[in-house]
Amino acid sequence: MRIVSGIQPTGNLHLGNYLGAIRNWAAMQDNASASGGECLYFLADLHAISMPHVPAELSANTREMVAALVACGVDPQRSILFNQAQVPQHAELQWLLNGTARMGWLNRMTQWKDKAGKNREGASVALFTYPVLQAADVLLYQATHVPVGEDQKQHLELARDIAQKFNNDFASPDAPVFTQPEPIIPPEAARIMSLRDGSAKMSKSDPSDMSRINLTDDADTIMQKIRKAKTDPEPLPGEKAGLAGRAEAANLVGIYAVMAGTSVDAVLGEFGGEGFGKFKPALGELLVEKLSPINQRFVDLRRDQAALDAILKAGAEKARALAMPTLDKAYAALGLVRG
Ligand code: TYM
Repeated sequence: MRIVSGIQPTGNLHLGNYLGAIRNWAAMQDNASASGGECLYFLADLHAISMPHVPAELSANTREMVAALVACGVDPQRSILFNQAQVPQHAELQWLLNGTARMGWLNRMTQWKDKAGKNREGASVALFTYPVLQAADVLLYQATHVPVGEDQKQHLELARDIAQKFNNDFASPDAPVFTQPEPIIPPEAARIMSLRDGSAKMSKSDPSDMSRINLTDDADTIMQKIRKAKTDPEPLPGEKAGLAGRAEAANLVGIYAVMAGTSVDAVLGEFGGEGFGKFKPALGELLVEKLSPINQRFVDLRRDQAALDAILKAGAEKARALAMPTLDKAYAALGLVRG
């Protein structure tokens, strides 16, 4: 088992990242170390430059994100934790894969369409080729499993298509260059929605901070955000089917269920028939209880910048060593002469 995943260091870690992906990173690391597998988790800082950004903020956010991931349970002793910018093999392999990826495939990516919007002419080339770098991120390490939220599924399918076409075009069937990666998407928290709009995913790029719970929010802020979360006037139903067509209610009940480690039906068994006046404070308290130890660890870890830099440096060294054999194979398969 080779587990690989990444996150952009473009702001705070929020509840969507945590429930959709990072919690799984920590759990898979525990399983992988028990079974002799390996986990590589990285900060996708090269992806972050596909959108306008402030350089000093990117550096600060990169270190903060290391502290946040460690606070969430990613253990740099057992997992390889690094940032792309210190492993140039990611960018190198992306270039090699640019010859295999098709314009038509990239044009169909929903993230490209959403982020470029109507201004495609003005979007960066990096935003367009972003999924090719993401394919390089996982193929470089022969990843077998990639824990992500639902929104990354399409990018992972593209990585599989690129791997398959490259293998077909440039390798013999008994000696493929790349492994086909499997996305691992948690069924119950695949898509955590905004607290202000049940049809939009919770996201760092939402201009309203009230739309998301950040892992750095203090108890008062969490309680206030949940109190103000958009809902409807109906009481909660007694079972899951009654949440159909009630996106905001379904989102809050789903968050409660995952945080409490139980099912949506069990939550509705407890709160069915109650209004949000009773449910929201219970959800707020549950979030505070579960997130405050993470918050506390984060505050402690972020103080020691030198220790955070040392984690990235050590992780990058290991990642570079693991990356080289596959990169060498890819160069050779393409007929590129390198001394
Ligand atoms: P990013 O930084 O947007 O998000 C990191 C992880 O959090 C998940 N996620 C969510 N899950 C559930 N509900 C939400 N509202 C929510 N918002 C975010 C994402 O699915 C992701 O797993 N392109 C990637 C980073 C990346 C990557 C990779 C991931 C670069 N290379 C290679 C996997 C493998 C991204 O921008 O994720």
